[in-house]
Amino acid sequence: MTTHKLLLLPGDGIGPEIMTEVKSILGWIEKNSEVSFETEEDLVGGSAYDAHGKSISEEAMKLAHNADAILFGAVGGEKWADVPYDMRPEAGLLRLRKDLDLFANLRPAICYSALAQASSLKPELVEGLDILIVRELTGGVYFGEPKEIVTLEDGQKRAVDTQVYTTSEIERITKMAFDLARTRSNKLMSSEKHNVMKSGVLWKEVVNAVHKDGYQDVELGHILADNCAMQLVRNPKQFDVIVCDNLFGDMLSDVAAMLTGSLGMLPSASLGAVDSSTGQRAALYEPVHGSAPDIAGTGAANPIAMIASLAMALRYSFNMGKEADLLDKAIAGVLDQNIRTGDIYTNGMTKVGTNGMGAAILAQLDAQA
Ligand code: IPM
Ligand code: MG
Repeated sequence: MTTHKLLLLPGDGIGPEIMTEVKSILGWIEKNSEVSFETEEDLVGGSAYDAHGKSISEEAMKLAHNADAILFGAVGGEKWADVPYDMRPEAGLLRLRKDLDLFANLRPAICYSALAQASSLKPELVEGLDILIVRELTGGVYFGEPKEIVTLEDGQKRAVDTQVYTTSEIERITKMAFDLARTRSNKLMSSEKHNVMKSGVLWKEVVNAVHKDGYQDVELGHILADNCAMQLVRNPKQFDVIVCDNLFGDMLSDVAAMLTGSLGMLPSASLGAVDSSTGQRAALYEPVHGSAPDIAGTGAANPIAMIASLAMALRYSFNMGKEADLLDKAIAGVLDQNIRTGDIYTNGMTKVGTNGMGAAILAQLDAQA
């Protein structure tokens, strides 16, 4: 019997509701496989701020360092709008990414055929869509220094964020993206803005060097980030794997998410480097969507992105590809039965809440087993 250590960080808003569904699914997997999960749970984001005065406690950080993988819900909400900047809910997530060195953020955007109608784009543009955005997650403007607002002599204020990348930071995310491209259709598109940004010039240079050095079998293209956003809504199926920096990745992945019908559908994996002595890597799995405070507590949230994030954890952290496939198939199966939460609901479908969706996925797992 293998035991995996999982840290659950439900966070704020709809986080706890969608995490509840994940717990039931973890129970199902334990019953139907040879693994068990040793789970710990802690606070992050606004709920941690309310309890401890900071967006993640040292205790929770310790648990995070010790876990084999972290499942993260969502953070943030109006309630904490006036909290000091360093303690805002998002700071907890950013600290986890930085302290665990989770430099690679994998954001797949898959359009389930049952949902092509729910996309804001024409169904034929998105049906069968399967792209992967590989976002650099620990560098760039999110963490660059200086990052400040200063008051000038004339009384004006001046705000600075710093976009900064080193060769090695670009190299490691590029290699990860090339490796992933090889497992898919062997095509990689790199996106930056070398026409206006020095960091874009270096980005492109390093991507080309990595390509030349060991990945010439992969077809490489370059695209300016603004054009990439436009092409994603014009003809998304031209892409397979896209690699980009932290900020462009944040924006492009929201665009890609919406192509699939709802932000409520997309999981993500944030991975560190593999430790050469243990073969393990730090990993955090989270839905791409936010904490949706407007529907928090109503039981209406779509738990699919959270559950699909668990599937990614099974695949990338626990070597449980079979169970991950089962879970992905169960999600698609439930959608084929026309069961929908409000965000992906269209006329004539059966509307369910968070718990109803979780239960339907469990029933589908049973039916498939
Ligand atoms: C995301 C989110 C975060 C980000 C926020 C919550 C800090 O938008 O994961 O995409 O900007 O990275
Ligand atoms: Mg985002």
